[in-house]
Amino acid sequence: MSDRIYSRIAGTGSYLPEKVLTNDDLAKLVDTSDEWIASRTGIRQRHVAAEGETTGDLAWHAAVRALEAAGVAASELDLIVLGTTTPDLVFPSTACLLQHRLGANGCPAFDVNAACSGFVYALSVADKFIRSGSAKTALVVGAETLTRMVDWSERTSCVLFGDGAGAVVLKADAETGILSTHLHADGGKKELLWNPVGVSVGFKPGEPNAGVRINMTGNEVFKHAVKALDAIVEETLQANGIERSRIDWLIPHQANLRIIEATAKRLEMPMERVIVTVDMHGNTSSGSVPLALDAAVRSGKVQRGQLLLLEAFGGGFTWGSALLRY
Ligand code: COA
Repeated sequence: MSDRIYSRIAGTGSYLPEKVLTNDDLAKLVDTSDEWIASRTGIRQRHVAAEGETTGDLAWHAAVRALEAAGVAASELDLIVLGTTTPDLVFPSTACLLQHRLGANGCPAFDVNAACSGFVYALSVADKFIRSGSAKTALVVGAETLTRMVDWSERTSCVLFGDGAGAVVLKADAETGILSTHLHADGGKKELLWNPVGVSVGFKPGEPNAGVRINMTGNEVFKHAVKALDAIVEETLQANGIERSRIDWLIPHQANLRIIEATAKRLEMPMERVIVTVDMHGNTSSGSVPLALDAAVRSGKVQRGQLLLLEAFGGGFTWGSALLRY
């Protein structure tokens, strides 16, 4: 036995807002159809946060469920990392708001913004804390209310996104857990998928949300996502010296079924071994991977001891992966 410390997923949880918006509902808002959306993206519906329901609220529900599944009390947490692009406030971070609400006071808590790769980035950061011995029990969350910055009159992007949150509790383990994580970014492609308004750029006094909208060149994003995910899957396999056939489940970022199918093909994995929730959730950005993981765990598909490959791609561009023994 090596003296390496692993981060093992001790429990998962997720939460989706009650309100569901179907493709037919969207066809009443913009010139689109269920047939167009489903055939281009695989999405059939998405959840939308209620008025007043925040990213922090979604994160809290998911976190409570993950803690319960792990049998861990919030007071035992010594780290909280939360991936989000839609924080409740500019500051304090949504992680700090969550920490207080959970009663996990005192432990470090911070947000990570890597757009749709936010959860994989947060997971990688928490894994490094645990592997270095700086934390023993960590909460990692991906939570978003992306529909708050969707332009509901822009049919190419408004059909893609939804709200939701997922969480995992990581525990230090001597036997097994996360085997490796891989992160990349390319800020040079920022204008292909971005929201070009912030505090320091383009902020209009008195109109805090004016112009705060997602801007995307969809077909370019599609091509870059497929290429980057192909490369990172290869990098992950090589780093661990494993054959693609050894992976039990691919748990991809849920942006588009066709992107997911392209990655599965690269891995020579039948779609029966790929977790797909994009049809029901749409693209929930940082929420997507932990939502898919929790759905797979709770449905009994993912079993203890299995090898899981998580991957994500998002604005920045950012992309990342994690190979882990569940
Ligand atoms: N309903 C109906 N027609 C639509 C539409 C919609 N919701 N959105 C776009 N169209 C139209 C376009 O106006 C265009 O019409 P035109 O040929 O008359 O100009 C046509 O459909 C094709 O548009 P295009 O953008 O080339 O479509 P596409 O096949 O690339 O599909 C996406 C668009 C957005 C579904 C696809 O590019 C995609 O999924 N990209 C990745 C986006 C993504 O995942 N982003 C998040 C990454 S984390």
